[in-house]
Amino acid sequence: MLETNFCGIKLKSPLVLASGILGTSPELMQRIANSGAGAVTTKSIGPIEREGWKNPTVIELEHGLLNAVGLPSPGYNNMEEEFSELNKIKVPWIASVYGSSIEEYVKVAEYVSKKNPSMIELNISCPNSKAHGQIFGINPEIAKEITQKTKQACGKIPIMPKLTPQATDICEIAMACEEGGANAICAINTVQGMAIDIEMRKPVLSNKMGGLSGPAIKPIAIRCVYQIFEKVKIPILGMGGITRGEDAIEMIMAGATAVGVGSAVYYNGIDCFKKINSEMENWMKKNKVKNLEEIKGAAHK
Ligand SMILES: Cc1cc2nc3c(=O)[nH]c(=O)nc-3n(C[C@H](O)[C@H](O)[C@H](O)COP(=O)(O)O)c2cc1C
Repeated sequence: MLETNFCGIKLKSPLVLASGILGTSPELMQRIANSGAGAVTTKSIGPIEREGWKNPTVIELEHGLLNAVGLPSPGYNNMEEEFSELNKIKVPWIASVYGSSIEEYVKVAEYVSKKNPSMIELNISCPNSKAHGQIFGINPEIAKEITQKTKQACGKIPIMPKLTPQATDICEIAMACEEGGANAICAINTVQGMAIDIEMRKPVLSNKMGGLSGPAIKPIAIRCVYQIFEKVKIPILGMGGITRGEDAIEMIMAGATAVGVGSAVYYNGIDCFKKINSEMENWMKKNKVKNLEEIKGAAHK
């Protein structure tokens, strides 16, 4: 009932673990797969070893999480054990990569493409470090060039740029990526936000600003996916605030083929995939929907 074909990759469920939620640990990824995720995404892998920001890096707000983890990474050429373990997981894995220049994106993506991921996600949208992506994801020419060059370097592996809702026109970026040869679009990354501790009179996060995720951003994510669906032909991995089966159905009706789940793992634990899958199935049975293709983009008709 939930089987999905995303870019030629067969998924037993449309639910995909979003990047950054459980690092690159293969054991945790396997637990996520056992819980019912159709695929898992690694934390974004970068060109050099990076520690990330000091604590606090993640805080829970009323309707979402605010994080400035700062893209900590062991560095792409320091992960042989993780790569070989990731290939033992029973579901497809997606390698998320970032760089601070077009050349770095290409270098990391080319290297990682040889480690057998099912797909490469280009994180051109992280709000936590200007030098690591955000600037690329708001410029259509740069987004197109990164896509084109990584595509050339990675052979047959599908390439999926991940977009920021903070672009003036997200459709312009999605179309530029499609022109550059992208096989899919991932939308959305977090939305830049801030919280201030009024007793301390100081920003709460050590990095001052961070990325907002979780239920607070769901309407923004739905809007972005809806708009992108009208402008590109390639499939969309829609994410942002998905915590229930009904949210996933809404995302698919906006036009997503697969649905990312991130903050829900913080709120509800690793088993949230099982719960969201069964809520989707219940909704489908009640509404006599046999497969997800039937309702993809339904809100556009
Ligand atoms: C703690 C945390 C770390 C994240 N790290 C990454 C990352 O390394 N790369 C990336 O592309 N997105 C990262 N994200 C963004 C998520 O993959 C996702 O796009 C976003 O959280 C929206 O989905 P959600 O509302 O289901 O969490 C991170 C999100 C959180 C909460």
